[in-house]
Amino acid sequence: MSDTLLELPLLDSVEAAPRTTSARQGRTPSSRSVYVETYGCQMNVADSETVTSILGSAGFALVSTPEEADIILINTCAVRENAEARVIGRASQLNGLRRARPNLTLGILGCMAQHLATTLPTRAPWVDLVAGPDAYSRLPELLAQTADETLLDTRLSRSENYIGIDPKRRSNSTNAWVTIIRGCDKFCTFCIVPYVRGRERSLPAEEIIRQVRGLAAEGFREVTLLGQTVNSYNDGHTDFAQLLRDVAGVDGIRRVRFTSPYPVDFTDRVIEAMATTPQVCPSLHLPVQSGSETQLASMQRGYTAAHYRDLVGRLRAAMPDIALTTDIITGFCSETEEDFQQTVDLMQEIRFDSAYMFKYSERSGTHAARAMVDDVPEAVKKERLQRIIGMQEGISREINAAMVGRNVEVLVEGESRRRADDGTATYYGRSPQSKTTIFAQPVPAHRIIHVAVERTSSHTLFGRVIPPTE
Ligand code: 5AD
Repeated sequence: MSDTLLELPLLDSVEAAPRTTSARQGRTPSSRSVYVETYGCQMNVADSETVTSILGSAGFALVSTPEEADIILINTCAVRENAEARVIGRASQLNGLRRARPNLTLGILGCMAQHLATTLPTRAPWVDLVAGPDAYSRLPELLAQTADETLLDTRLSRSENYIGIDPKRRSNSTNAWVTIIRGCDKFCTFCIVPYVRGRERSLPAEEIIRQVRGLAAEGFREVTLLGQTVNSYNDGHTDFAQLLRDVAGVDGIRRVRFTSPYPVDFTDRVIEAMATTPQVCPSLHLPVQSGSETQLASMQRGYTAAHYRDLVGRLRAAMPDIALTTDIITGFCSETEEDFQQTVDLMQEIRFDSAYMFKYSERSGTHAARAMVDDVPEAVKKERLQRIIGMQEGISREINAAMVGRNVEVLVEGESRRRADDGTATYYGRSPQSKTTIFAQPVPAHRIIHVAVERTSSHTLFGRVIPPTE
């Protein structure tokens, strides 16, 4: 390990805040406490669990507030500009804690660390450590080394899969994230992910099953398999369809979910595995991005809107109760009003249960940033975004309203932040379709119950617990 450290580039940095390295000397890593804060997608949440596991095993104490920590690590997202700006703001705020703790170490991890490796040390010179998504095994050593300069480790690996590391799951969670494939080879023109997460690589199926067995033994009843293109999974022996069946077959696992699949790699074998494996939930996040053939081609998504519609048709034929959600980008390069209208048409036709909608933000390093013009005015991007948000809100409300009077199976997650009208506590869980379901009766987490739906909003179902019959 030490020879790899020698290769790490050290950048000169401008001192903006005092960093007293001497105060750190004499403290072994094992006596230092770590706080990890996470932004971005579920993969980042899962990566933070890997990081806390690695650091916990190396003897660092994990703490739950930044104020208690000797080391603050921010695990970040680079996918949209907003996310990056927010993280820099938050890091700068946390840097203020240095006044009370002069020997604080502040590190940025993950996709943004990778993306901004060369500029971050000047934009935020008080950052001590910048480590990309493939550097986490080296974190204990990196943290021991942190010195006067910002320490960078952003080498991408073709093979790092964190085999044998059991992510430290959040104890209050009923769902466990299980990363099955890392990186991405799709290179959609707008997307930074292949550049910040490196090449696609699947974990061996035996390692995944080992982790899932462990989770079942810990009491988890639901697992969500994760990857940037999760259904591209193939370890050379097991494909995604087979893996779904194998994971569902682990004793104690009652629900299997996965996110996010890539439409092109969605095979009939996977549809069949979903439809015939009762543990696999009928809910799917299937990013479409646009309804315009021209836009899809310039995004290099590899499918047409016609192909996407056909796939949705096959999914719904096999699983009539499947809930579908999606991602949409408005205002990608050269998007005309007509292109946008085709997105509106597709959304009205498919009627997604919900959608994550974004306006395009150019990401340096992507094909679009290099070879296309970000020519849709900001105001137009925003206005289009607002139009589809409003439209989708209505569709989501109508779809949920149709659930009134029906019974849903709910895996209970715990007490809800929402109070009932009379101020009493409420409890929540999720239905197989992944709808948050709220009820008044206290039921312990991890329990599977049935709820009669009485009322709905665009994002939530409300109901009463149906007592179990003998
Ligand atoms: N601008 C806006 N949205 C983006 N996404 C990815 N890259 C960009 C970008 N440059 C969206 C896509 C993707 C989701 C995770 O984020 O819709 O599916």
